[in-house]
Amino acid sequence: MSDRGTWGSRVGFVLAGAGSAVGLGNIWGFPTRVGENGGAAFVLVYLVCVIFICLPIMIAELAIGRRTQSDPVGAYAKLRPGTRWWMAGGLGVAAGFGVLSFYSVVAGWALAYIWFSASGAVSGDAVESATFFTDFTSHAPSSLFFTFVMLAATAGIILGGIRAGIERVSKLLMPVLAILLVVLAWHASTLPGAAEGLAYYLKPDFSKMMSFGALNAALGQAFFSLSLGLGTMLVYGSYLTKREGIAKSAIMVVALDTSLALLAGFVIFPSGFSIPGFDPTSTGPGLIFMVLPRLFATLPGGQFFGAAFFILLALAALTSAISLLEVPVAHFIDSHGWSRKRAVVIVTTATFALAVPSALAMGASSFFSDLPGIGMDFQSLMITVWNDFALPIGGLITAIFVGYVWRIDSALEELLAEQAWFPNPKLWGWMVRYACPLAIFVIIFMNIRSMIV
Ligand code: PFF
Repeated sequence: MSDRGTWGSRVGFVLAGAGSAVGLGNIWGFPTRVGENGGAAFVLVYLVCVIFICLPIMIAELAIGRRTQSDPVGAYAKLRPGTRWWMAGGLGVAAGFGVLSFYSVVAGWALAYIWFSASGAVSGDAVESATFFTDFTSHAPSSLFFTFVMLAATAGIILGGIRAGIERVSKLLMPVLAILLVVLAWHASTLPGAAEGLAYYLKPDFSKMMSFGALNAALGQAFFSLSLGLGTMLVYGSYLTKREGIAKSAIMVVALDTSLALLAGFVIFPSGFSIPGFDPTSTGPGLIFMVLPRLFATLPGGQFFGAAFFILLALAALTSAISLLEVPVAHFIDSHGWSRKRAVVIVTTATFALAVPSALAMGASSFFSDLPGIGMDFQSLMITVWNDFALPIGGLITAIFVGYVWRIDSALEELLAEQAWFPNPKLWGWMVRYACPLAIFVIIFMNIRSMIV
């Protein structure tokens, strides 16, 4: 147990929680998925998922974590010993490993773009920057190298005991990232075509009914962005003291995370639509890497701004990657008695093995770039499996567990400890028992049905 460490009094939960939540999900994932799924209507559905499904579940996850002070597997086992509920935690451990496998690939892209922006290697020409991205990601050694560097850095930080230091640095730099995004959004809004971009982002077109696939993508993206459904928040909750109110902390993390995602959209869409013939549905995961160089090229001192932006993005990705790796690592330490070093080395090596096909899926390997019989590349497959299914299903299981097994009353005991602020406990209980599980189940079920039929 002593090997788990704590936040220490100076590193508060909100800082750590926001450090985990804010990352590629906000700046890369959110705009990409808004683009793929048709704009403003998706944004609206995303916000509904965040507030009505994810927030109640985040509170539930934190409550389990603080009560049990364990990793996900240990937590369920503690609350319901001798049952199979520990398997719910097992899904989270697997998902932490699965998400990190493709996360480290994209984090590697952000890392590489620090250099590409600073050196001026990537040009502001829209066609050239798109080709540049494709050439870069289809070059196997570069993709693998940057993925490896990101994973090694993540492992090194957890092992070196400098995690709190990194989190403190990122606490200082997150406001800088937010300010930079505001400046970029303001500048982007002055570009020709910006109005069209803003309309795409903000004016929902309800005449196009959203498919269940898009609904499922919004749900998955919300879980992913908030670091929810795999036990990250459970592990973080286990480091929360009773003095810190769970509801307030959860609301702050959700508000911060969602503001940054929305802000990223205000940068990407006006910039994108300033490119003649821009089609947000067709760029895929390269969206921000194709659009941003052009934005930077229109700014005085663009090379500097570009490098600064990607440094901040890589750092935000790093703090999220740390939290992902922490879930399986905490599990092997707590439940199997491994040393921290052994857990980190083994889990990271396994993650790299699964990251390889994702790193090769953007053109480097024709097999992984278009999996025969599946109709998508390996990285998209990982995103579908882990983000869109595993995380919401993890959330569904958490809600069922808290609502019907551990029960709302016991959870409320934890949530209301020391007279903590908690508005409307009844409504929360109702959401966790009925609304959240039903909504998740219907969206996932209907999406699977639409895939089969
Ligand atoms: N929330 C992180 C992001 O938006 O980049 C990614 C993430 C971290 C997902 C931790 C899940 C998790 F448990």
